[in-house]
Amino acid sequence: MNSVRTAWKAYEGEGLLARLHVVVRALTCPFQPLMDRFPTTGALLDVGCGHGLLINLLARDPSRRALKIYGTDHDPAKIESARRTASPGVVFSTVDLGLFPESVFDAVSIVDVLYTVRKDAWSAILQGCSRALRPGGRLIVKEVVDRPRWKHWAIMAQEALSVRVFGITRGDRPHFEPPEGYRQAIVAAGFSVIEERPLPTATWISHYLFVAQKS
Ligand SMILES: C[S@@+](CC[C@H](N)C(=O)[O-])C[C@H]1O[C@@H](n2cnc3c(N)ncnc32)[C@H](O)[C@@H]1O
Repeated sequence: MNSVRTAWKAYEGEGLLARLHVVVRALTCPFQPLMDRFPTTGALLDVGCGHGLLINLLARDPSRRALKIYGTDHDPAKIESARRTASPGVVFSTVDLGLFPESVFDAVSIVDVLYTVRKDAWSAILQGCSRALRPGGRLIVKEVVDRPRWKHWAIMAQEALSVRVFGITRGDRPHFEPPEGYRQAIVAAGFSVIEERPLPTATWISHYLFVAQKS
């Protein structure tokens, strides 16, 4: 599946800015390796889903038709956009992570969210993910790491534009951490990391993946 073509088509009813935003996102974020880590059945929740691109890609993947898919974000405008583009059966909401029922999801993803949140708030978010997952459930985290340094400065410049100038992302001051910073937070929230790796990219962005399991 070509994520750029799917993004362009899925958001065709949205404003040009939102449509370009998801297409650039599809071009610069390696969604396919993330999608490959999701189960093909059960229930999944994407936390901080933004315009819902990852969910929209998953929901349009024929091998994942049996999934029950939920997305949540605290930005109501993004959730409105996500709802307008959603496939039947997909649920997007602004419901706080802590209000989802306990132990119901087989997989919870959190993609490029932690860098927008102060580090002292990570543990509440990751514990919320753990609470929502069934025992043995899978946490999929994708963040950007702070190395090599030239990529770090390039992504900082991009985020300064995105958060401060264009207001595309609501959040705290962006900050990118070394892999061990994310790993320690994931483990401290009660997960076992079962996979971690840099995700290949042809851009200035150092994508890094963690897959973890709730004990
Ligand atoms: C950089 S965007 C990434 C969006 C999406 N995950 C993606 O990969 O395209 C970060 C998102 O996290 C959301 N966010 C940050 N903190 C959040 C929180 N505590 N609860 C829900 N959403 C949050 C922001 O509103 C924003 O949409």
